[in-house]
Amino acid sequence: MKTPLRPNRPQGFSTRAIHLGYDPASAMGALTPPIYMTSTFAFETAEAGSEMFRGERAGYIYGRTRNPGQTILEERMASLEGGEAGMAAGSGMAAISATMMTLLSAGDVAVIDHTIYGNTYAYFTQALPRFGIIVKVVDFCDAEALAGALKDGARVVFFETPANPNLRVIDIAAVSALARAAGAQVVVDNTFATPVLQRPLEQGADIVVHSATKYLGGHGDILGGIVVGRAEDLGRIRSTGLRWMTGATLSPFNVFLLMRGLKTLELRMERHCASALAVARLLEGHRKVASVAYPGLESFPQHDLARRQMALPGGLVSFELDGGLDSGVDFMNRLALVTRAVSLGDTETLVQHPASMTHAVVSPEDRAKNGITDGLLRLSVGLETTDDILADIEQALDAL
Ligand SMILES: Cc1ncc(COP(=O)(O)O)c(C=O)c1O
Repeated sequence: MKTPLRPNRPQGFSTRAIHLGYDPASAMGALTPPIYMTSTFAFETAEAGSEMFRGERAGYIYGRTRNPGQTILEERMASLEGGEAGMAAGSGMAAISATMMTLLSAGDVAVIDHTIYGNTYAYFTQALPRFGIIVKVVDFCDAEALAGALKDGARVVFFETPANPNLRVIDIAAVSALARAAGAQVVVDNTFATPVLQRPLEQGADIVVHSATKYLGGHGDILGGIVVGRAEDLGRIRSTGLRWMTGATLSPFNVFLLMRGLKTLELRMERHCASALAVARLLEGHRKVASVAYPGLESFPQHDLARRQMALPGGLVSFELDGGLDSGVDFMNRLALVTRAVSLGDTETLVQHPASMTHAVVSPEDRAKNGITDGLLRLSVGLETTDDILADIEQALDAL
């Protein structure tokens, strides 16, 4: 690591995202860390290999558990989230499942918020119960309901904020305090906010998970996942969840792309948020729009909480049109620049219909209970010129 210019001042977010954990002198002066495209690592002697396996000597053994590029990425993400240690995984679902398979055993209780990404919801409500894990689904905005669910003890509390797809905001500090009192570990999916906008560990959470496929990667060209938390927890998640149970490692090439994405994360988030606010205001003022959910709008029911908890309101906007689903489908098909695709956080502006796409795996009854209406559309506002995004949305609305 290069010596900081001002040793008494902590380095800023983007400086750490660009430099932390790497010294070009360690790799023949290469400005960016090399891609260590190797599955295994040579031991200097047989004894050295055995010592590494026993944990008595530092070093790399085999690519499923660790790779030098991954180490740099993990140190950067740990620092950006304000945690002791990080772990990269092959996708967001890999990060979540490696974490849960480490923390939970048969008979344990997990309490989850009722609005989360469809496949995470299916993982908790359909997959984990097959292994004897009891999953309680609660509205985390309702403190009494949450306290009731925690009453008989729980091992894990899990939520997203802002939540996919309707952007409900959960009070991280309040939920963490309740969970802590009940002896549960708090795991927050910080995919929508990223550590630029919010750092859950500083507000009482124990572990942060990410789909790095989204803003962290930022260019729609990789799948990846990240876990950050205490060194002790991360050591267990790596040796159990990653090494034995999922084997879902991030490839060295995707480590490289993810680190490239991180370098511009702060800059990109500022632009995503500024354009999303402009889109939200356009939608709110349009006569064919029935409702808009964006944490940065004064009309958003949890606007005050969002302002308290987030540095900026995020790059996603959800809304419903007059005429519900039929108008929504018509609107999506009339878009020329905005791309019809799931995922989010990319340079391209993307639109999708949660009820038939990202949340199709959730039953219609659960969607109705969880505030995922059939007419809801979700926009991930990209990095194109803001006026071009606005013009495309406006022409599609006007043509309805
Ligand atoms: C909030 C959130 N968490 C986790 C995931 C899963 O991530 P991945 O697709 O990288 O497995 C997604 C995917 O859309 C998501 O939106």
